Amino acid sequence: MTGKIAASVMCANLGHLADDIKKLENAGVEYVHVDIMDGSFVPNFTFGTDFCEALRGMTDLPLDIHLMIQKPELHIAAFKPRPGEYICVHQEATVHLQRTLALIKSFGAMAAVALNPATPIYTIEDVLEDIDMVLIMTVNPGYAGQLLVPQTLDKIARMRAFLDARGFEKIAIEVDGNVSFENAEKMRAAGADIFVAGSSSVFIKALGIEKGAQELRKHIL
Ligand code: DX5
Ligand code: ZN
Repeated sequence: MTGKIAASVMCANLGHLADDIKKLENAGVEYVHVDIMDGSFVPNFTFGTDFCEALRGMTDLPLDIHLMIQKPELHIAAFKPRPGEYICVHQEATVHLQRTLALIKSFGAMAAVALNPATPIYTIEDVLEDIDMVLIMTVNPGYAGQLLVPQTLDKIARMRAFLDARGFEKIAIEVDGNVSFENAEKMRAAGADIFVAGSSSVFIKALGIEKGAQELRKHIL
């Protein structure tokens, strides 16, 4: 299977959001990645539940909701998870991770766990039954436009081997942070399946969304 693109809406032109969403549809991206930040788990603020609902009204593209918030279990229901969507929580942000993942599944959505660069792979060993995807943060979460944390490339390969060795070949690996054309190729070689495309690729102003997506595709075959 070729790599999939999850376009990061925080990098879109929010003053012309509907235009950018149309361009993402035309470019054939697979998901709209929505970064939710609470000013506590990460220093920044972004969007909330109403914004996700507005996106759902604007496009049939499935959402890939990345919750960078403390105690996500308190807010899952408010995000109204839908079948076909990913809801991703951070391993570091919830004490009862398994319960949180089961809650996501109870809405029929796909459940994912994100790991910060410093969080070891083994911390998700006992929830593999409960997840559809692992999100490997390739930068420390919070801001667009940061540089790759280099050791996360090897972490992708180690994660793929870890999952396969336990019989979880079907769990997808998503990568988020500085997914440039050059880095995407290395991430793909290491085993990444879904690529969060932000200011490093699909939202490069000089290139435009369609050309950015087209170029990214060449690097994630
Ligand atoms: C980082 C965000 C990313 C960001 C990635 O916390 O989760 O989605 O938009 O885009 P880049 O790194 O290319 O700006
Ligand atoms: Zn993200």
